[in-house]
Amino acid sequence: MNKFTSIFVILFVLGAVFACDSDYDPVNTAFGTKCTAQHHSTFPAPGSRSTALTPNDIPAAELAVHEERMRYILDIARSKNRKFVSSIYHSNGTLMCIGFNDLGKPNLISHGEIMAITNCTNLYGLAAYDGYDLYTTGEPCAMCAGAIMWSHFRTVVWGTYNHDLVCKICMSNIPFESTALFDTYETVKINKIRVIGGVLQQESDAWFGTYCDRPTNIFYIAPKCNCVNVNKTQTLSVNQTRTSSWIDGGNTQYSQWSGVITNIGTTTVTFPNFLSLPSGVAPQSIWGLSRTSVDDQWALAWNPSIAPGATFNFGYIISGNDKLNFYQE
Ligand SMILES: *[C@@H]1O[C@H](CO)[C@@H](O)[C@H](O)[C@H]1NC(C)=O
Ligand SMILES: *[C@@H]1O[C@H](CO)[C@@H](O)[C@H](O)[C@H]1NC(C)=O
Ligand SMILES: *[C@@H]1O[C@H](CO)[C@@H](O)[C@H](O)[C@H]1NC(C)=O
Ligand SMILES: *[C@@H]1O[C@H](CO)[C@@H](O)[C@H](O)[C@H]1NC(C)=O
Repeated sequence: MNKFTSIFVILFVLGAVFACDSDYDPVNTAFGTKCTAQHHSTFPAPGSRSTALTPNDIPAAELAVHEERMRYILDIARSKNRKFVSSIYHSNGTLMCIGFNDLGKPNLISHGEIMAITNCTNLYGLAAYDGYDLYTTGEPCAMCAGAIMWSHFRTVVWGTYNHDLVCKICMSNIPFESTALFDTYETVKINKIRVIGGVLQQESDAWFGTYCDRPTNIFYIAPKCNCVNVNKTQTLSVNQTRTSSWIDGGNTQYSQWSGVITNIGTTTVTFPNFLSLPSGVAPQSIWGLSRTSVDDQWALAWNPSIAPGATFNFGYIISGNDKLNFYQE
């Protein structure tokens, strides 16, 4: 190896090391390997994340039904000591069948959702599931989301999110938001699937537990995710006020928010980015902030920097009566 080749090899290795590191936020990432419970997690690959409904979006009476059904499969999961359990309900409220991932038996595509669909088909000869609702402890992977859409389900409900399986729980999964697939329904089925994530999320996450300290387990993966500590000390303070709220002709509630970003630090902040939570929720319209190519991330729309003591105004209209929370990244 001559001198130039060696330098090239060293640079190449360094490049590879930093390329890996760049998937993490080194300041905010706990332990450098996974997101902790206090961290909001996203996959490294940027993409437009669409909106799964969350329990906050669901009327209380309906949510109670989803929670009862989620608790039923969590109970089965705990009693069978299996993580991924699914169930299928008829629109009249009858439980039709369940299915669970039996540690990859009889084959590696035997995920809980696939097993439940196969079970119901074996029991009742069902081919299509128009009007049926599917529940699952973990968000459908890319394969199962495809199967659910091809099967024409009406509703899909899960407890634990894929990004938390990958980024916090260190559990092997395809780093993919199922809503990205469910949103493409028009070419497969007539009606959009009602997609609800995070039902009994804490209880479901607790059942998945953690594989982060079990590197020899078959489910273990070393995650590569963006982890943002939403409790980090902010030099840009965001203060928001609801300026109005109304209900439109279609019975949807909207609210309008006016926000002021103030630099409460002692140095000018240039090109700041903000994370918005809850994740996947986007305003109907927004001014002053513009979306970046990263999920849930926003930049100042026109001003590159905010001097100490200076302010920057933005605003938006959002469905519901709750504000979107913005955190400086
Ligand atoms: C932030 O800090 C508070 C208080 O210590 C804690 O209750 C909360 O869980 C932390 N994380 C988030 C995401 O707010
Ligand atoms: C609901 O529909 C299923 C499937 O047709 C049927 O087996 C069940 O008896 C029905 N239950 C009620 C309460 O109507
Ligand atoms: C199929 O679903 C039924 C009804 O929930 C359940 O009793 C049975 O155990 C399920 N079979 C499998 C293989 O999971
Ligand atoms: C936020 O803005 C409102 C309305 O302008 C103001 O009354 C309030 O004091 C501000 N809060 C903070 C923490 O700056």
